[in-house]
Amino acid sequence: MRVFASAPGKITLFGEHAVVYGEPAITYTIDKRVHVHLKVRGDSTIKIEARGLQVGGAKLVISGEKIEAEVDAQSLMESLSYVHKALEIASEYCGESKGVEILVESELPVGAGLGTSAAVSAATIAAFCRAMEKELSLEELARLAHRVEIEVQGSASPMDTMTVTYGGLLYIKPAERSFERLEWGSLPVVVGFTPRESNTGKLVAGVRRLVEREEDLIMEIIRTIGKLVDRAREALEEENLEMVGSLMNVNHGLLEALGVSTVKLNEMVYAARAAGALGAKLTGAGGGGCMVALCPGREEEVKASLRAVGGIPLECTFSSRGVEVRVVG
Ligand code: PMV
Repeated sequence: MRVFASAPGKITLFGEHAVVYGEPAITYTIDKRVHVHLKVRGDSTIKIEARGLQVGGAKLVISGEKIEAEVDAQSLMESLSYVHKALEIASEYCGESKGVEILVESELPVGAGLGTSAAVSAATIAAFCRAMEKELSLEELARLAHRVEIEVQGSASPMDTMTVTYGGLLYIKPAERSFERLEWGSLPVVVGFTPRESNTGKLVAGVRRLVEREEDLIMEIIRTIGKLVDRAREALEEENLEMVGSLMNVNHGLLEALGVSTVKLNEMVYAARAAGALGAKLTGAGGGGCMVALCPGREEEVKASLRAVGGIPLECTFSSRGVEVRVVG
């Protein structure tokens, strides 16, 4: 049997990192997706191949105890570990361990802060369960994909996996593992990309070290981010874009205080503001990766300003499509 599944990338508008400590966050899914093609084999061998945007490919073949890897991009190798773990967790859930061939294709830069690891995990689980003809609710899918992120990264909030599973503009409540949908059309945002110098697991661990060293001080910043998310929700509901932008700027400053920004991200954030954005911040775990600017009517100026400081503007718009899966033969 052949199955095709896909899941969207996401932007964190507000609240990354603090969400790991139970604070709310606001996320937004985009029209660029991760695609997973899965074919069930007649033996127990697992072959995983990933092809990414502008970075070449990576392959993993697991046959019994033997593991062979071919990589020309480290970031793709990391995404293969999410696929491998997702298969393990999905096999356990289905009570079936069949050999499969998987091809992952991403329309997003991998490991850039746009939720690609969550999208890869959710789409792989959805594809495997459909191939095994096992019932899987969206709630169960989000829960299993979250387990993949925890096991691969060491620590993760349910934000990314919940967002890419359901799709939409979401107010995430991590403590309750639930969300509320916020009503809005397409927000006029521009996303800028710069290669990452670190990965999500290391960045989350870095913030954890800060919390352990200076708990009172750092938890104050984290709680302030949580309050800011609630203000941002009100501003979004009132369609007050000036306020949303200004809160994005404050959120960026607080993320910088947590040590997750970089010179390149700051340059892009400042360039976007100077080009007329109402607000700009890094999005995702930081350490390079992506930033997002809210810039109604100034999209082209903001894209040019990002290019001028060496950033890559990514064409993307809002899409409320979550995980999708279908049998193709
Ligand atoms: O950079 P991404 O897309 O992996 O997003 C990470 C978001 C964090 O809040 C930093 C971590 C988490 O688990 O929520």
